[in-house]
Parts: sequence; structure tokens; C-alpha cells
Amino acid sequence: MISARMNRPIRVLLLSGATIAVAALAAACGTEKISVPSSDPTHSGAVLFSQRCAGCHTLSYAGTHGSASNARTREITNGPSFDQRCERPIDRVLYAIQNGGFSGAIMPQNIVVGQDAIAVAQFVAKYAGRQAPKQPGVTPCIAQPIGTLPAAVALAHATASTAASTGSPPTPAVTAAAIGAAAHRKSAKPKHR
Ligand code: HEC
Repeated sequence: MISARMNRPIRVLLLSGATIAVAALAAACGTEKISVPSSDPTHSGAVLFSQRCAGCHTLSYAGTHGSASNARTREITNGPSFDQRCERPIDRVLYAIQNGGFSGAIMPQNIVVGQDAIAVAQFVAKYAGRQAPKQPGVTPCIAQPIGTLPAAVALAHATASTAASTGSPPTPAVTAAAIGAAAHRKSAKPKHR
């Protein structure tokens, strides 16, 4: 019939409309809210995390869902969910960022560097592990010490922004070379930790 033929373009239009709607919804998933208040010194770390780490890690405080939720459909690049996994102390997180996870095999190294890496590490160390199941005899993540970063790195950070929150005074004497050297020492670490 003629009318069936005439309807076809309309059906195609409707269908592509639906596709666009689905795409818009999918895109919205990627822009889920960061729930760390902007007054929190780790807010910038949360933003960076949502931009750089979202594809492979879940951490609801940054609105990311990159970890696998089903073992049968997981992909090799799915990293641990930081809602579940405690990531303290903080120097461990920085090490993982520099090394590419602990194995160095799947996660790329140095996705964020310098101040950005420190900011992300601070955010992850603070907010990871909050949905970990409670286990008798295991100290909840939030009660575990968050630790400190190696001196040169911590000082570099203090000069950057949050001297007040870390309690260490800004030290103008810290040079980029010193920070670079510290970063180098870190990346030369042995494989296992
Ligand atoms: C391409 C996917 C991918 C991206 C992007 C990625 N990761 Fe990973 N990450 C992984 C995988 C896979 C592992 C676990 C495997 C391993 O440790 O080698 C991991 C492990 C880690 C670990 C160690 C966790 C543990 O307890 O074993 C930390 C911390 C970490 N990632 C932080 C980050 C941060 C922060 C970012 C963003 C700057 C990031 N990752 C980006 C895939 C990724």
C-alpha cells in the first residue's frame, strides 16, 4: 500500500528520535553529580577523578561507575570499586597512580601527575571504602589512618593550596627539581608492595 511506504520515513524519524533520547540518557550517566562539597579541600581531586578515572573505577562520591558490577561481564580494564575498597594510607594511592595500579600491568601509569596526582590521591584516600561491608575484627576504612605523603611531595602540595588544612607551612625553598627527584625515586620502586 502507498500509505505504508509513506510512513516509512516517519518511522525512521521516530526511531532515530528514540535513539537520540537513549544517547542523551547515556550521556547523562557520565555527568552524574560529584557529592564532595566544594568547601572540601579534596573537591578538585574528585573533579579530576571523575574526568580521568571514571572509565575504570567506581566511586560514588565522584559519580563514577567504571568498575565491573558483574564478574561474568567484566572487562580486563575494569578496576576495583573504591566504594568497596579501602585505599589508605594515601602514599599507597599515589604509588598506584604513578605505577599504574599495583601490578603496573593494566592501568596506565601517570594518568595524572604532580599536583593533580596529589589532589586525586587525597580525594581517593579520604572517600574510598565507605561502603565496604563491615567485618568483625577489621577496622573500618574511615577509622584507619589516612597517612601522609613523602616530605617533598607534601611540601609541594602545601605551597599549592591547602597549607591550612594539612598544617604544614608553605615552603618556598622547595624547587621543582626536588619534587621531580622525589617523583623519580617513587617510580623506581620495586614492583610489589
Ligand atoms: C584503563 C582503566 C583504568 C583507568 C583509566 C584507571 N585505572 Fe586504576 N586500576 C585499573 C585496574 C585494572 C586496576 C587493578 C589492577 C592492578 O592493580 O594492576 C587499578 C588499580 C588501581 C588502584 C589500586 C587499587 C587496589 O587496591 O588494588 C588505585 C589506587 C587506582 N587504580 C587508582 C586510579 C586512579 C586515581 C585513576 C585516575 C587517575 C585510575 N586508577 C585510572 C584500571 C584503571
